[in-house]
Amino acid sequence: MAQDLAAAWAAVVALARTPRGDGTAPTTIRPLFAADPERFRRFSHSADGLLLDLSKTSISEAARGALLDLAHSAELPARRDAMARGEAVNVTERRAVLHMALRGTGGFHAGGEDASAEVAAVLGRMRDFTLAVTEGRLRGATGERFTDVLNIGIGGSDLGPAMVARALWRPDAPLRPHYLGNVDAHAWEEIRPRLDPRRTLVLVASKTFTTQETMTNAALVRAWLAEGLGEAAVGGHLAALSTNLGATADFGIAEDRVFPFRDWVGGRFSLWSAIGLSLALSLGWEAFEQLLAGARVMDAHFLTAPLEANLPVLLALTEVWHVNGLGLGTRAVLPYDERLARLPAHLQQLEMESLGKRVTLDGAPVAHDTGPVVFGEPGTNAQHSFMQLIHQGTRPVPADIILVARPDHAHPDSHRKLLANGLAQAAALMRGKTEAEVRAEMEAAGTAPAEIARLLPHRVFPGDRPTVTLLLPHLDAFTLGQVVALYEHKVASLGILWGINAFDQWGVELGKQLTGPILKALEGAEPAGQDGSTLGLLAALRSAQG
Ligand code: F6P
Repeated sequence: MAQDLAAAWAAVVALARTPRGDGTAPTTIRPLFAADPERFRRFSHSADGLLLDLSKTSISEAARGALLDLAHSAELPARRDAMARGEAVNVTERRAVLHMALRGTGGFHAGGEDASAEVAAVLGRMRDFTLAVTEGRLRGATGERFTDVLNIGIGGSDLGPAMVARALWRPDAPLRPHYLGNVDAHAWEEIRPRLDPRRTLVLVASKTFTTQETMTNAALVRAWLAEGLGEAAVGGHLAALSTNLGATADFGIAEDRVFPFRDWVGGRFSLWSAIGLSLALSLGWEAFEQLLAGARVMDAHFLTAPLEANLPVLLALTEVWHVNGLGLGTRAVLPYDERLARLPAHLQQLEMESLGKRVTLDGAPVAHDTGPVVFGEPGTNAQHSFMQLIHQGTRPVPADIILVARPDHAHPDSHRKLLANGLAQAAALMRGKTEAEVRAEMEAAGTAPAEIARLLPHRVFPGDRPTVTLLLPHLDAFTLGQVVALYEHKVASLGILWGINAFDQWGVELGKQLTGPILKALEGAEPAGQDGSTLGLLAALRSAQG
């Protein structure tokens, strides 16, 4: 590690572990508000309609300065720009990382090729196909209009589009979207009764077109189409979204039904590529364009805003403070909007697959912890589930709280209650409740002294638990595009700060490799090379299956 980078890390860690100049503990938040009535203004940042409030963290002015020094020492701007220039920043796979090119801005190149021109050509084909379907010019084999689109894919070929569809689909939208991911055929059995093969368009979404789950489900669904419509009609109900044009042809999908993208698009960053075709079809082309436009605006912000006002960079530095400064290895994502119910799942893949790394770019063990465990649920449901641990558990869990100012329903009372809960959770986590406050409250309620003594420790809240609040004016395709791109750039920034490759995922390979021989054993072969536990479980399964 370069000298100044090591010093910058040491400065951040020291600030997080030693009392502040005024004697307050570096983990406390309330004294920061007491000392600075302007803290909200100083620690909240607006960009293009989004508001990011970082004031309810224990980051002081000094800590923020040290974190920004760290970003400069890690050469975050130069490395970010190298990514945008199409350099092979995914070093283990020797690939460029150009999901920003997918938003249609223009001017992106990879390996000397004009990536933006290619993107424009594919987007043009996606648009023509979408309009032909949604306007009823392209129909199913029996002449009926398509009413449903089934996306078969997993991981990045499922989570992003499924999350966006869940957030933005309305009953008056062009097609009903369905997402089939798990190789568990119960998933297909659950979706199947809702579909009629005559009116269903099936997209096989797989970057590699080799993923076991997706190819297994694709075969099941293909057989269902053939059974319902006849083999000759199947092609008219299928399309493929992939980088592997050989495999899509082998599967029998006509060339004009294949929507390609390139290996410079990582799966978890791919919802803007052909992988988003289910969104264009189900939400309409205009909505898909708005999604790209929102991401484009966030790209411009990430590439040009100074670090001290750069939302994704500030979010990344806040994570560094929590993970590396305070040693907090978990983060909750709490969207106070039911439509964002799948956002935590999308962010789990985006962040944990990207940042779950233990070696640096050059293969040395990392000197600091890397990606935290990410989980979440929409508020207010989360409050009645796991928030107890976040309020009173032994390990503080920083949380992202996402609020939407204007709902799309006509029930203002419900919305006010939703927002009140979100704001109250953040306030309660920060404020806590002292012994004196609990005692006074119980005394006022007439509780007997012995009972107060008994319950006091249970009813005290430590407080000083950090939250970050992201406020959206409205949830629509544009703002959702901004939000998803915000988190993508946060991930890229953390990869730079931690010196790791945020764009590969070797950790998923071993399980895939070991599945092969175990599958053979389940098919009846003599198990070989298995550990005692796996052998025991195989035998138990065989006997339970009779
Ligand atoms: O699980 C690993 C992974 O490669 C993800 O990164 C990816 O999004 C997913 O599998 C699906 O891959 P594919 O799109 O190639 O089917």
